[in-house]
Amino acid sequence: MVLIDGKATAAAIKQEIAARVAEIVGAGGKRPHLAAVLVGHDGGSETYVKNKVLACEACGFESTLIRYEDDVTEEELLACVARLNADDAVDGFIVQLPLPRHISEQRVIEAIDYRKDVDGFHPVNVGRMAIGLPCYISATPLGILELLRRYKVETSGKRCVVLGRSNIVGKPMASLMMQKQYGDATVTVLHSRSRDLKEECRRADILIAAIGRPGFVTAAMVKPGAVVIDVGTTRVPDATRKSGYRLSGDVDFDAVKDIAAAITPVPGGVGPMTICMLMLNTLAAGEKKFYS
Ligand code: GUN
Repeated sequence: MVLIDGKATAAAIKQEIAARVAEIVGAGGKRPHLAAVLVGHDGGSETYVKNKVLACEACGFESTLIRYEDDVTEEELLACVARLNADDAVDGFIVQLPLPRHISEQRVIEAIDYRKDVDGFHPVNVGRMAIGLPCYISATPLGILELLRRYKVETSGKRCVVLGRSNIVGKPMASLMMQKQYGDATVTVLHSRSRDLKEECRRADILIAAIGRPGFVTAAMVKPGAVVIDVGTTRVPDATRKSGYRLSGDVDFDAVKDIAAAITPVPGGVGPMTICMLMLNTLAAGEKKFYS
């Protein structure tokens, strides 16, 4: 079994990005600048945003963190998005999700200038991704493609099962795995209403689990020799940890590792790659790679 090491791969890519930034700055160019907007104090979001800011430092980017309390109005948040859209010093920005219930996430996402939407959540970027045009691609699926590429996992013509149909992971992942220029695979998407879920999973050469249910994928659902990608990062209570919790993937790692040809661990698999791909999108924003 090959352990697909997302942490080491992400570290290598961040070094590559930092080298490119040094080149840009050496030639008199500007450091890429990412802004992140964080609303409230959700523990998961705080950790993600902190890690995004640290990744910016590692890549030689400028970063700005803008914080609001939970009771920020949608109007105030939309005004912040408008300011960031207009700020030439900021190449790209994200609004960390989820947002409080009184704010429409969709309205906020659609207010972001798609040319600065380094999360790749704006409908323009989602649409361009779906038809194979240059654009910002959502970081988690992009990170998974990059892991498959760097670990030389053959995807063309293979059966790929995507478990989950979220806008952030499942849908873009399925779309990318299907497209000739990315995965070129035969893709099945499974979700909470799917029939014969176990049998469908067992047909997969590449199984990508993104449903947010700890340990959902058991050994009986994995074909011997399959490549298993675990996107789950659910916090489960664990009194033995200082933090009081541990991260649990969607895959029963201990049981599946002896069956799979390759597998991503949690933590240290897809998670670090996601942040790293946000950095790659920010580098592209700084270089005006997709949009001028
Ligand atoms: N919440 C969970 N994942 C993400 C992400 O990739 N981007 C943003 N903005 N919020 C998230």
